[in-house]
Amino acid sequence: MSRGDHDADRRRLLRAGAIAGVGAGIGAGAGVLGAGAVRTREDALGRTAAGSAADAEAAPTALIGEETIPFHGTHQAGIATPAPAHAVFLGLDLRPETDRDAVLRMLRVLTDDAARLTAGTAPLADTEPELAAAPARLTVTVGFGPGLLQRAGREAPAWLAPLPAFAIDALRPELGDGDLMLQVGAEDPLALAHAARMLLKGLRGAATVRWRQQGFRRAHGTVRPGTTMRNLFGQVDGTANPQPGTPAFDRAVWIPEGPFAGGTSLVLRRIRMDVDTWDELDRTGREEAMGRRLADGAPLTGGGEHDAPDFAARTENGFPVIAEFSHVRRARGVDAADGGQVIFRRAYNYDVAPDPGGAEISESGLIFASYQADPRAQFLPIQERLAELDLLNQWTTPIGSAVFAIPPGAAEGEMLGQSVLE
Ligand code: HEM
Repeated sequence: MSRGDHDADRRRLLRAGAIAGVGAGIGAGAGVLGAGAVRTREDALGRTAAGSAADAEAAPTALIGEETIPFHGTHQAGIATPAPAHAVFLGLDLRPETDRDAVLRMLRVLTDDAARLTAGTAPLADTEPELAAAPARLTVTVGFGPGLLQRAGREAPAWLAPLPAFAIDALRPELGDGDLMLQVGAEDPLALAHAARMLLKGLRGAATVRWRQQGFRRAHGTVRPGTTMRNLFGQVDGTANPQPGTPAFDRAVWIPEGPFAGGTSLVLRRIRMDVDTWDELDRTGREEAMGRRLADGAPLTGGGEHDAPDFAARTENGFPVIAEFSHVRRARGVDAADGGQVIFRRAYNYDVAPDPGGAEISESGLIFASYQADPRAQFLPIQERLAELDLLNQWTTPIGSAVFAIPPGAAEGEMLGQSVLE
């Protein structure tokens, strides 16, 4: 193609894009103006009627800030729902004086606040109600540690206990455990900060914050919806997950019976990733450590991201193409009796200030959130295998660890955890 042809092509593409963009703008504008509920929220956002119409005309797409994810349902939101760009995980300790009645009161307030906030409505005591008006797909997911169940006089599931210690661990107690866990997610960090603060305000008579971990993925609109996330090693991370909405996902994640039926468990590991030394490894070495390509996440045995790895394939010299020490081979447990060892990973990246005065320029890694019906049967054998052998361990260190029982979702008028505590 000549340079001229190329330029003409580009101009045509740009023109087509501009026309499509205008169409989308008008369509979205009409949608925004037509929806009464949305208009109410626009009023809360402080726009004048004239400003609102002008905004709607100029808006290229509907506002993500106005989108909501239903709070009520069989399962809590924030697990099978698409992972938003931002999340904060909060670990809380119950105050010594918080008894069973106080736990129930706390959960009623928490449920009510979460239901309102996720719908874009300010909770009763909100002194900054404008910040609640754009929830940006806010979700609130609540988990119980063993301490909460004990305080409420209920028996904890046998698996609800700290994980055994692994040789690879360098756990910091201030980054783990807790009686209560809140996972708050949103596409907008301001909506998230406000929601987290409001929820904590409602809880503070009964509990204190033990740890707070904030994580991120790509900002909304940066890549196409459905794109697997990348972690700070640059890897495509989350490919071999069970897909929400499939029987395989339901089997792996939701607890089938008992007081927690419709709930799940969360294993939360804060895993430091040594990006400074990972940088020193060449691309081939990095891909061998994982068993997948960095460019597109495809297995080293070929195909696309979602094609199955061929663990039996050998190089000309007789070595496995996907190395014995690679993360995917060890995590999948192809040589082990691994029936039922399926987990759902919904991780977030973190990147915080390194220790002052230290040699490191980065302190980053994964807030590794793994959901499964039974952590002992599903998560633990995988973690044991990885702790025993996984080349990735050279650059990763678990520094925080916690296990929580996630009660099922609440129906309207119900309290979160009702089936477990009442
Ligand atoms: C910082 C630490 C970790 C990093 C950077 C990491 C990264 C990755 C990447 C890039 C993949 C390949 C793509 C995919 O299927 O998602 C993967 C797969 C996987 N990882 Fe990890 N991972 C880490 C820790 C863990 C831990 C702690 C576990 C569980 C104990 C785990 C379990 C798995 C599983 C089950 C797979 C899918 C294997 C398969 O069936 O193909 N990972 N991980």
